[in-house]
Amino acid sequence: MPLQISAYRLWNLSHGDFTQVSRGHLPFSCTMAGKSIQDLLTPAFIVDLEKVKKNAHVMLDRFQKLGVQLRPHMKTHKTLECADIMTAGTRRCIVVSTLAEAFFYADHGFDDILYAYPLPFDKVVRCAELSERLSLFHVLVDCSAALEELKKQPLTRGKNWHVWLKLDCDNGRAGVPHSAPAALHLAKAISETPGVELTGIYAHCGNTYGCSGEEQIKAVAQDTTTFTLQFMDKLKANGIHCSKSSIGSTPSCSHPVPDMALLSEVHPGNYVFYDVQQSMIGSCKLEDVAVRVLTRVIGHYPHRNQLLVDCGWTGLSLDSGGRLPTGYAVIEGHPDLKLLSMTQEHGRVEAISGRLDYEKFPLGSLLTLIPYHACATAAMHPVYFIHTDGVVVDTWTPTRGW
Ligand SMILES: Cc1ncc(COP(=O)(O)O)c(C=O)c1O
Repeated sequence: MPLQISAYRLWNLSHGDFTQVSRGHLPFSCTMAGKSIQDLLTPAFIVDLEKVKKNAHVMLDRFQKLGVQLRPHMKTHKTLECADIMTAGTRRCIVVSTLAEAFFYADHGFDDILYAYPLPFDKVVRCAELSERLSLFHVLVDCSAALEELKKQPLTRGKNWHVWLKLDCDNGRAGVPHSAPAALHLAKAISETPGVELTGIYAHCGNTYGCSGEEQIKAVAQDTTTFTLQFMDKLKANGIHCSKSSIGSTPSCSHPVPDMALLSEVHPGNYVFYDVQQSMIGSCKLEDVAVRVLTRVIGHYPHRNQLLVDCGWTGLSLDSGGRLPTGYAVIEGHPDLKLLSMTQEHGRVEAISGRLDYEKFPLGSLLTLIPYHACATAAMHPVYFIHTDGVVVDTWTPTRGW
Protein backbone atom coordinates (compact mmCIF):
# COMPACT_ATOMS: atom_id res chain seq x y z
CA MET A 1 0.00 0.00 0.00
CA PRO A 2 1.30 3.46 -0.78
CA LEU A 3 1.80 5.74 2.17
CA GLN A 4 -0.28 8.93 2.15
CA ILE A 5 2.00 11.94 2.32
CA SER A 6 0.66 15.46 2.02
CA ALA A 7 3.81 17.21 0.96
CA TYR A 8 7.10 16.76 -0.72
CA ARG A 9 10.14 18.93 -0.54
CA LEU A 10 10.90 21.32 -3.31
CA TRP A 11 14.46 22.40 -3.24
CA ASN A 12 14.66 26.09 -3.81
CA LEU A 13 18.06 26.72 -5.34
CA SER A 14 18.04 30.46 -4.95
CA HIS A 15 17.10 30.49 -1.28
CA GLY A 16 18.71 27.22 -0.33
CA ASP A 17 15.78 26.00 1.72
CA PHE A 18 12.98 23.48 1.42
CA THR A 19 9.43 24.57 0.64
CA GLN A 20 6.42 22.39 1.31
CA VAL A 21 4.35 21.78 -1.80
CA SER A 22 1.17 19.74 -2.00
CA ARG A 23 1.47 16.28 -3.54
CA GLY A 24 -0.70 13.17 -3.41
CA HIS A 25 0.96 9.85 -2.78
CA LEU A 26 4.53 8.84 -2.31
CA PRO A 27 5.59 5.19 -2.26
CA PHE A 28 6.32 3.35 0.95
CA SER A 29 10.03 3.74 0.22
CA CYS A 30 9.98 7.28 1.63
CA THR A 31 10.00 5.76 5.11
CA MET A 32 13.69 5.17 4.43
CA ALA A 33 14.41 8.86 5.09
CA GLY A 34 17.13 9.24 7.71
CA LYS A 35 18.51 5.75 7.16
CA SER A 36 21.89 4.88 5.72
CA ILE A 37 21.99 3.92 2.05
CA GLN A 38 23.67 0.73 3.28
CA ASP A 39 20.30 -0.33 4.72
CA LEU A 40 18.44 -0.08 1.41
CA LEU A 41 17.05 -3.18 -0.22
CA THR A 42 18.98 -3.84 -3.40
CA PRO A 43 19.23 -3.22 -6.25
CA ALA A 44 18.66 0.46 -5.40
CA PHE A 45 19.17 3.54 -7.55
CA ILE A 46 20.80 6.20 -5.39
CA VAL A 47 21.28 9.87 -6.23
CA ASP A 48 23.79 12.15 -4.53
CA LEU A 49 21.79 15.36 -3.96
CA GLU A 50 24.82 17.62 -3.55
CA LYS A 51 26.29 16.45 -6.87
CA VAL A 52 22.95 16.93 -8.64
CA LYS A 53 22.69 20.47 -7.27
CA LYS A 54 26.27 21.22 -8.26
CA ASN A 55 25.88 19.84 -11.80
CA ALA A 56 22.64 21.80 -12.25
CA HIS A 57 24.11 24.99 -10.84
CA VAL A 58 27.23 24.85 -13.02
CA MET A 59 25.08 24.51 -16.18
CA LEU A 60 22.66 27.28 -15.13
CA ASP A 61 25.54 29.59 -14.29
CA ARG A 62 27.49 28.80 -17.48
CA PHE A 63 24.62 29.71 -19.80
CA GLN A 64 23.45 32.66 -17.75
CA LYS A 65 26.95 34.11 -18.21
CA LEU A 66 26.75 33.41 -21.96
CA GLY A 67 23.33 35.11 -22.11
CA VAL A 68 21.66 31.96 -23.46
CA GLN A 69 18.46 30.46 -22.06
CA LEU A 70 18.97 26.97 -20.61
CA ARG A 71 15.98 24.78 -21.46
CA PRO A 72 16.91 21.55 -19.63
CA HIS A 73 15.75 18.19 -20.92
CA MET A 74 13.81 16.06 -18.42
CA LYS A 75 14.30 12.66 -20.07
CA THR A 76 17.17 11.55 -17.83
CA HIS A 77 15.25 11.60 -14.52
CA LYS A 78 11.56 12.41 -15.27
CA THR A 79 10.94 13.68 -11.73
CA LEU A 80 9.44 16.89 -10.34
CA GLU A 81 12.14 17.38 -7.77
CA CYS A 82 15.04 17.22 -10.21
CA ALA A 83 13.12 19.46 -12.64
CA ASP A 84 12.85 22.05 -9.88
CA ILE A 85 16.58 21.89 -9.31
CA MET A 86 17.35 22.17 -13.05
CA THR A 87 15.00 25.14 -13.55
CA ALA A 88 16.08 26.81 -10.29
CA GLY A 89 12.50 26.57 -9.12
CA THR A 90 10.97 28.53 -12.02
CA ARG A 91 9.06 25.50 -13.43
CA ARG A 92 9.39 27.14 -16.84
CA CYS A 93 11.23 26.34 -20.04
CA ILE A 94 11.83 22.59 -20.20
CA VAL A 95 12.17 19.89 -22.87
CA VAL A 96 10.46 16.50 -22.71
CA SER A 97 10.74 13.43 -24.89
CA THR A 98 7.35 11.80 -24.21
CA LEU A 99 3.79 13.02 -23.96
CA ALA A 100 3.60 11.30 -20.56
CA GLU A 101 6.36 13.62 -19.35
CA ALA A 102 4.59 16.62 -20.91
CA PHE A 103 1.35 15.88 -19.02
CA PHE A 104 3.18 15.00 -15.81
CA TYR A 105 4.95 18.35 -15.75
CA ALA A 106 1.90 20.31 -16.97
CA ASP A 107 -0.21 18.70 -14.24
CA HIS A 108 2.29 19.92 -11.65
CA GLY A 109 2.40 23.55 -12.70
CA PHE A 110 5.22 23.52 -15.25
CA ASP A 111 4.79 25.62 -18.39
CA ASP A 112 6.68 26.53 -21.56
CA ILE A 113 7.21 22.85 -22.40
CA LEU A 114 8.86 21.74 -25.64
CA TYR A 115 7.95 18.23 -26.77
CA ALA A 116 11.18 17.64 -28.72
CA TYR A 117 10.21 14.52 -30.58
CA PRO A 118 9.12 14.16 -34.23
CA LEU A 119 5.37 14.84 -33.98
CA PRO A 120 3.67 11.44 -33.50
CA PHE A 121 0.38 11.51 -35.44
CA ASP A 122 -1.49 9.41 -32.86
CA LYS A 123 -0.81 12.08 -30.25
CA VAL A 124 -1.82 15.26 -32.09
CA VAL A 125 -5.16 15.53 -30.26
CA ARG A 126 -3.40 15.28 -26.87
CA CYS A 127 -0.83 17.84 -28.03
CA ALA A 128 -3.69 20.18 -28.95
CA GLU A 129 -5.12 19.73 -25.45
CA LEU A 130 -1.80 20.80 -23.90
CA SER A 131 -1.38 23.69 -26.36
CA GLU A 132 -4.78 25.03 -25.30
CA ARG A 133 -4.16 24.46 -21.59
CA LEU A 134 -0.66 25.87 -21.16
CA SER A 135 0.56 29.32 -21.95
CA LEU A 136 3.31 27.71 -24.07
CA PHE A 137 3.48 24.18 -25.41
CA HIS A 138 5.79 23.55 -28.35
CA VAL A 139 5.83 20.68 -30.83
CA LEU A 140 8.57 19.56 -33.20
CA VAL A 141 8.11 18.97 -36.91
CA ASP A 142 10.52 17.64 -39.54
CA CYS A 143 8.25 16.84 -42.50
CA SER A 144 5.34 18.38 -44.37
CA ALA A 145 3.06 15.44 -43.44
CA ALA A 146 3.33 16.50 -39.79
CA LEU A 147 2.36 20.04 -40.73
CA GLU A 148 -0.70 18.62 -42.52
CA GLU A 149 -1.69 16.81 -39.30
CA LEU A 150 -1.52 20.09 -37.37
CA LYS A 151 -3.69 21.79 -40.00
CA LYS A 152 -6.34 19.11 -39.45
CA GLN A 153 -6.39 19.97 -35.73
CA PRO A 154 -6.74 23.75 -35.43
CA LEU A 155 -6.46 25.08 -31.90
CA THR A 156 -9.35 26.82 -30.21
CA ARG A 157 -9.34 29.92 -27.98
CA GLY A 158 -7.44 31.93 -30.58
CA LYS A 159 -4.28 29.92 -29.96
CA ASN A 160 -1.60 29.06 -32.50
CA TRP A 161 0.45 25.88 -32.67
CA HIS A 162 4.02 26.66 -31.59
CA VAL A 163 6.20 24.68 -33.97
CA TRP A 164 9.93 24.09 -33.89
CA LEU A 165 11.55 22.83 -37.07
CA LYS A 166 13.99 20.03 -36.38
CA LEU A 167 17.22 20.44 -38.29
CA ASP A 168 19.68 17.59 -38.75
CA CYS A 169 23.14 19.06 -38.36
CA ASP A 170 24.90 15.77 -39.20
CA ASN A 171 23.60 13.86 -36.18
CA GLY A 172 21.75 11.51 -38.53
CA ARG A 173 18.62 10.78 -36.51
CA ALA A 174 15.53 13.02 -36.82
CA GLY A 175 15.44 16.32 -38.71
CA VAL A 176 15.68 17.80 -42.18
CA PRO A 177 19.31 17.99 -43.36
CA HIS A 178 20.44 21.56 -42.63
CA SER A 179 21.68 22.26 -46.15
CA ALA A 180 18.77 20.60 -48.02
CA PRO A 181 16.40 22.98 -49.86
CA ALA A 182 13.59 20.99 -48.17
CA ALA A 183 14.50 22.60 -44.83
CA LEU A 184 13.84 26.11 -46.10
CA HIS A 185 10.70 24.99 -47.94
CA LEU A 186 9.30 23.41 -44.79
CA ALA A 187 10.14 26.49 -42.70
CA LYS A 188 8.31 28.67 -45.25
CA ALA A 189 5.30 26.34 -45.28
CA ILE A 190 5.11 26.36 -41.46
CA SER A 191 5.37 30.13 -41.27
CA GLU A 192 2.68 30.62 -43.93
CA THR A 193 0.16 28.23 -42.37
CA PRO A 194 -2.71 29.99 -40.59
CA GLY A 195 -2.98 28.97 -36.95
CA VAL A 196 0.65 27.83 -36.87
CA GLU A 197 3.72 29.78 -35.76
CA LEU A 198 7.32 28.91 -36.58
CA THR A 199 8.70 29.46 -33.10
CA GLY A 200 12.18 27.98 -33.33
CA ILE A 201 14.86 25.86 -34.97
CA TYR A 202 16.02 22.83 -32.97
CA ALA A 203 19.19 20.82 -33.62
CA HIS A 204 20.31 18.06 -31.28
CA CYS A 205 24.04 17.36 -31.56
CA GLY A 206 23.90 13.71 -30.51
CA ASN A 207 26.99 13.23 -32.70
CA THR A 208 29.02 14.62 -29.78
CA TYR A 209 28.57 11.12 -28.30
CA GLY A 210 31.12 9.86 -30.85
CA CYS A 211 33.72 12.33 -29.53
CA SER A 212 36.71 11.77 -27.36
CA GLY A 213 37.89 14.79 -25.41
CA GLU A 214 37.13 18.49 -25.28
CA GLU A 215 38.66 19.38 -28.64
CA GLN A 216 36.49 16.96 -30.60
CA ILE A 217 33.37 17.94 -28.62
CA LYS A 218 34.01 21.61 -29.37
CA ALA A 219 34.47 20.89 -33.08
CA VAL A 220 31.01 19.24 -33.26
CA ALA A 221 29.48 21.99 -31.09
CA GLN A 222 30.97 24.60 -33.43
CA ASP A 223 29.67 22.86 -36.58
CA THR A 224 26.17 22.46 -35.16
CA THR A 225 26.13 26.10 -34.02
CA THR A 226 27.41 27.34 -37.37
CA PHE A 227 24.90 25.28 -39.40
CA THR A 228 22.03 26.42 -37.18
CA LEU A 229 22.99 30.09 -37.27
CA GLN A 230 23.51 29.92 -41.05
CA PHE A 231 20.01 28.50 -41.34
CA MET A 232 18.64 31.33 -39.17
CA ASP A 233 20.33 33.81 -41.56
CA LYS A 234 18.74 32.02 -44.52
CA LEU A 235 15.32 32.34 -42.89
CA LYS A 236 15.86 36.05 -42.39
CA ALA A 237 17.10 36.54 -45.95
CA ASN A 238 13.92 34.85 -47.19
CA GLY A 239 11.64 36.96 -45.03
CA ILE A 240 10.66 34.02 -42.77
CA HIS A 241 10.10 35.06 -39.17
CA CYS A 242 11.50 32.71 -36.54
CA SER A 243 12.71 34.03 -33.20
CA LYS A 244 14.47 31.10 -31.53
CA SER A 245 17.37 28.75 -32.18
CA SER A 246 18.40 25.91 -29.90
CA ILE A 247 21.14 23.28 -30.02
CA GLY A 248 22.63 21.04 -27.39
CA SER A 249 23.65 17.81 -25.78
CA THR A 250 25.44 17.19 -22.53
CA PRO A 251 28.92 17.00 -24.12
CA SER A 252 28.48 20.22 -26.16
CA CYS A 253 26.93 22.15 -23.27
CA SER A 254 29.64 20.95 -20.89
CA HIS A 255 32.23 22.47 -23.26
CA PRO A 256 30.44 25.25 -25.11
CA VAL A 257 32.13 27.23 -27.89
CA PRO A 258 31.88 31.06 -27.79
CA ASP A 259 29.54 31.14 -30.83
CA MET A 260 26.90 29.33 -28.79
CA ALA A 261 26.30 32.74 -27.17
CA LEU A 262 24.63 33.69 -30.47
CA LEU A 263 21.91 31.05 -29.99
CA SER A 264 18.75 31.75 -28.04
CA GLU A 265 18.66 28.45 -26.15
CA VAL A 266 20.45 25.20 -25.35
CA HIS A 267 18.80 21.94 -24.28
CA PRO A 268 21.08 19.43 -22.50
CA GLY A 269 19.66 16.94 -19.98
CA ASN A 270 21.99 14.15 -18.91
CA TYR A 271 24.44 16.56 -17.19
CA VAL A 272 22.36 16.64 -14.01
CA PHE A 273 23.40 13.04 -13.32
CA TYR A 274 26.32 12.49 -15.72
CA ASP A 275 27.61 8.88 -16.04
CA VAL A 276 30.57 6.71 -17.06
CA GLN A 277 29.88 7.34 -20.74
CA GLN A 278 30.06 11.12 -20.25
CA SER A 279 33.30 10.77 -18.33
CA MET A 280 34.76 8.72 -21.20
CA ILE A 281 33.63 11.28 -23.80
CA GLY A 282 35.23 14.00 -21.68
CA SER A 283 32.05 15.89 -20.63
CA CYS A 284 32.83 15.45 -16.93
CA LYS A 285 35.08 13.70 -14.43
CA LEU A 286 34.03 10.38 -12.92
CA GLU A 287 33.66 12.11 -9.54
CA ASP A 288 30.94 14.37 -11.01
CA VAL A 289 28.66 11.36 -11.60
CA ALA A 290 25.73 11.73 -9.17
CA VAL A 291 24.14 8.28 -9.47
CA ARG A 292 24.93 4.71 -8.48
CA VAL A 293 23.21 1.35 -8.28
CA LEU A 294 23.72 -0.50 -5.01
CA THR A 295 23.80 -4.26 -5.29
CA ARG A 296 24.58 -7.17 -2.94
CA VAL A 297 26.68 -10.28 -3.32
CA ILE A 298 24.31 -13.27 -3.47
CA GLY A 299 26.60 -16.13 -4.51
CA HIS A 300 30.21 -17.40 -4.51
CA TYR A 301 31.35 -19.72 -7.34
CA PRO A 302 35.06 -20.39 -6.86
CA HIS A 303 35.08 -23.14 -9.54
CA ARG A 304 34.33 -20.35 -12.09
CA ASN A 305 36.25 -17.64 -10.20
CA GLN A 306 33.03 -15.61 -10.15
CA LEU A 307 30.54 -14.15 -7.76
CA LEU A 308 26.91 -13.28 -8.31
CA VAL A 309 25.18 -9.97 -7.47
CA ASP A 310 21.48 -9.11 -7.23
CA CYS A 311 21.54 -6.65 -10.11
CA GLY A 312 20.62 -7.85 -13.56
CA TRP A 313 19.63 -5.77 -16.56
CA THR A 314 16.37 -4.73 -14.85
CA GLY A 315 18.51 -2.82 -12.34
CA LEU A 316 21.16 -1.40 -14.66
CA SER A 317 20.14 -1.80 -18.35
CA LEU A 318 22.33 -3.37 -20.98
CA ASP A 319 23.21 -0.02 -22.50
CA SER A 320 26.99 -0.30 -22.51
CA GLY A 321 26.84 -3.63 -24.33
CA GLY A 322 29.47 -4.81 -21.84
CA ARG A 323 32.19 -3.04 -23.80
CA LEU A 324 33.80 -1.26 -20.85
CA PRO A 325 37.08 -2.77 -19.63
CA THR A 326 35.07 -3.35 -16.44
CA GLY A 327 32.09 -4.82 -18.34
CA TYR A 328 28.64 -3.23 -17.93
CA ALA A 329 29.54 -0.67 -15.26
CA VAL A 330 32.39 0.65 -13.15
CA ILE A 331 32.43 -1.10 -9.77
CA GLU A 332 33.37 1.70 -7.41
CA GLY A 333 36.52 1.13 -5.40
CA HIS A 334 37.26 -2.14 -7.20
CA PRO A 335 39.05 -1.47 -10.49
CA ASP A 336 40.06 -5.15 -10.43
CA LEU A 337 36.43 -6.33 -10.79
CA LYS A 338 34.37 -6.72 -13.95
CA LEU A 339 30.58 -6.97 -14.30
CA LEU A 340 30.88 -9.63 -16.93
CA SER A 341 27.27 -10.36 -17.84
CA MET A 342 23.71 -9.92 -16.66
CA THR A 343 20.45 -11.75 -16.93
CA GLN A 344 17.15 -10.26 -15.81
CA GLU A 345 17.89 -10.25 -12.06
CA HIS A 346 21.44 -11.64 -11.76
CA GLY A 347 24.86 -10.18 -12.50
CA ARG A 348 28.06 -12.21 -12.90
CA VAL A 349 31.20 -10.55 -11.50
CA GLU A 350 34.73 -11.80 -12.05
CA ALA A 351 38.26 -10.62 -11.32
CA ILE A 352 39.93 -8.89 -14.26
CA SER A 353 43.06 -10.88 -13.45
CA GLY A 354 44.02 -13.47 -10.82
CA ARG A 355 41.80 -15.20 -8.25
CA LEU A 356 38.86 -13.53 -6.53
CA ASP A 357 39.42 -12.99 -2.83
CA TYR A 358 36.00 -14.11 -1.54
CA GLU A 359 36.78 -12.92 1.98
CA LYS A 360 36.67 -9.36 0.65
CA PHE A 361 33.18 -9.95 -0.76
CA PRO A 362 31.16 -11.94 1.77
CA LEU A 363 27.61 -12.97 0.93
CA GLY A 364 25.32 -10.02 1.64
CA SER A 365 28.05 -7.40 1.20
CA LEU A 366 27.40 -4.32 -0.91
CA LEU A 367 28.95 -3.37 -4.22
CA THR A 368 28.40 0.03 -5.83
CA LEU A 369 27.93 0.25 -9.59
CA ILE A 370 28.51 3.49 -11.51
CA PRO A 371 26.20 3.27 -14.53
CA TYR A 372 27.46 3.60 -18.08
CA HIS A 373 24.32 5.51 -19.17
CA ALA A 374 22.37 7.20 -16.37
CA CYS A 375 19.23 7.79 -18.49
CA ALA A 376 18.93 4.08 -19.28
CA THR A 377 19.64 2.99 -15.71
CA ALA A 378 17.26 5.51 -14.14
CA ALA A 379 14.55 4.29 -16.52
CA MET A 380 14.74 0.85 -14.88
CA HIS A 381 13.81 2.14 -11.41
CA PRO A 382 10.36 3.06 -10.03
CA VAL A 383 11.88 5.12 -7.23
CA TYR A 384 15.19 6.92 -6.67
CA PHE A 385 16.78 7.15 -3.23
CA ILE A 386 18.19 10.60 -2.67
CA HIS A 387 21.07 10.87 -0.23
CA THR A 388 23.46 13.34 1.29
CA ASP A 389 26.73 11.84 2.52
CA GLY A 390 25.18 8.37 2.46
CA VAL A 391 22.06 9.26 4.46
CA VAL A 392 18.73 8.95 2.65
CA VAL A 393 17.02 12.37 2.67
CA ASP A 394 14.22 11.84 0.17
CA THR A 395 12.75 9.62 -2.51
CA TRP A 396 11.85 10.78 -6.02
CA THR A 397 9.22 9.05 -8.11
CA PRO A 398 9.65 9.38 -11.88
CA THR A 399 6.87 9.39 -14.42
CA ARG A 400 6.85 6.50 -16.87
CA GLY A 401 5.30 5.55 -20.18
CA TRP A 402 4.89 7.44 -23.41
C1 LIG B 1 16.09 15.61 -28.97
C2 LIG B 1 16.99 15.68 -27.80
N1 LIG B 1 17.27 16.87 -27.26
C3 LIG B 1 18.09 16.98 -26.18
C4 LIG B 1 18.68 15.87 -25.61
C5 LIG B 1 19.57 16.03 -24.41
O1 LIG B 1 20.87 15.64 -24.70
P1 LIG B 1 21.80 14.97 -23.59
O2 LIG B 1 21.16 13.70 -23.16
O3 LIG B 1 23.11 14.75 -24.29
O4 LIG B 1 21.91 15.94 -22.48
C6 LIG B 1 18.41 14.61 -26.15
C7 LIG B 1 19.01 13.41 -25.58
O5 LIG B 1 18.96 12.33 -26.08
C8 LIG B 1 17.54 14.51 -27.27
O6 LIG B 1 17.24 13.32 -27.82
